[in-house]
Amino acid sequence: MIRVAHAGVGGWGKNVVRVVGELTELAWVIDTDEGRQAEYAARYPQATVTGSFADALADETVDAVAIATPVPTHYALAKQALEAGKHVFVEKPPAMRGEEMEELVALARANGLVLMPGHLLLYHPGLRKVKELVDAGELGDVACVYGNRQNLGVIRSNENALWSLGVHDLSVILWLLGEEPTEAVAHGIDRLQKGIEDVVFCFLRFPSGRVAHMHLSWLDPHKMRKMTVVGLEKMVVFDDMELERKVTVYEKAPWEPASTYGEWRTRTGDIFSPKIANDEPLRLEIEHFLELVANGPGDHREALDGLRVVRALDRLTESLRVG
Ligand SMILES: NC(=O)c1ccc[n+]([C@@H]2O[C@H](COP(=O)([O-])OP(=O)(O)OC[C@H]3O[C@@H](n4cnc5c(N)ncnc54)[C@H](O)[C@@H]3O)[C@@H](O)[C@H]2O)c1
Repeated sequence: MIRVAHAGVGGWGKNVVRVVGELTELAWVIDTDEGRQAEYAARYPQATVTGSFADALADETVDAVAIATPVPTHYALAKQALEAGKHVFVEKPPAMRGEEMEELVALARANGLVLMPGHLLLYHPGLRKVKELVDAGELGDVACVYGNRQNLGVIRSNENALWSLGVHDLSVILWLLGEEPTEAVAHGIDRLQKGIEDVVFCFLRFPSGRVAHMHLSWLDPHKMRKMTVVGLEKMVVFDDMELERKVTVYEKAPWEPASTYGEWRTRTGDIFSPKIANDEPLRLEIEHFLELVANGPGDHREALDGLRVVRALDRLTESLRVG
């Protein structure tokens, strides 16, 4: 059985460690907080609980490491783990600069190790359905994609709304369209903490001519977790706030009747919701990581997806700073 050392059991990490413990052998739990160490020592008596990441890496029987510590620590911890010959699952984003992510990908490639960023939404059955519809050409030519990720809170102080929230939507947009943007523009405001944007609007243009937009905010009355894909034959909305109707397909499209050449009309057909499996995305994500560890990293697709996301975040950040 694959032996995993898990680092970081905070707000989100507690979910990751639970799933790791359910799916494989949880050998080590690492957290710098002593209260959390005591809690996890009681919960997982078979695991070694410590504050020292280096001690876990020194254990030669550990195959892989899962990292769910605060974002600024990701790059250094992932690098140490890869250098110690461990496969790495690291929460999003694995690095805060494109060059750092390139270094991690190069390390993983050179050593034949898995480097998988935690792009949770790519494992969401609802978004998998949207991807299936896009890839099958069901929507016709895709013209644009836009994401809404808004709420009142959680207000973070070590990353802005672009890095905290945008990384989710960006990973989905780049995956759905399968291309990297040629243009990346962002505008935002830092009303609560100087230099940490609370509200960010992003615009992306792709080589195919398709465009995307993201509204990211922790200063908003609506709790929205939505992705809309506009095709020229059908349109689809993924809404993660819906309990049952996560995906809705609209048979709505522009139409140019032969009889009225040059004059566009619109047509509206059925609106329907395909059945979406109720599987937990985090479980599917960690299962995928363990499969990669067992079978090898292949073409390093996951690491390269992560690199494209960090690169786009870098460009959007530059645009935010330039104003
Ligand atoms: N995929 C998702 O949907 C999702 C959701 C929320 C957060 N996240 C990501 O999960 C990560 C953790 O977020 P969180 O909200 O759980 O943070 P958190 O601050 O609640 O928890 C972080 C934990 O890491 C520990 N820690 C800090 N430095 C450490 C180190 N060097 N070694 C070991 N432990 C260390 C802290 O003591 C704490 O227990 C972030 O990268 C965040 O972006 C992902």
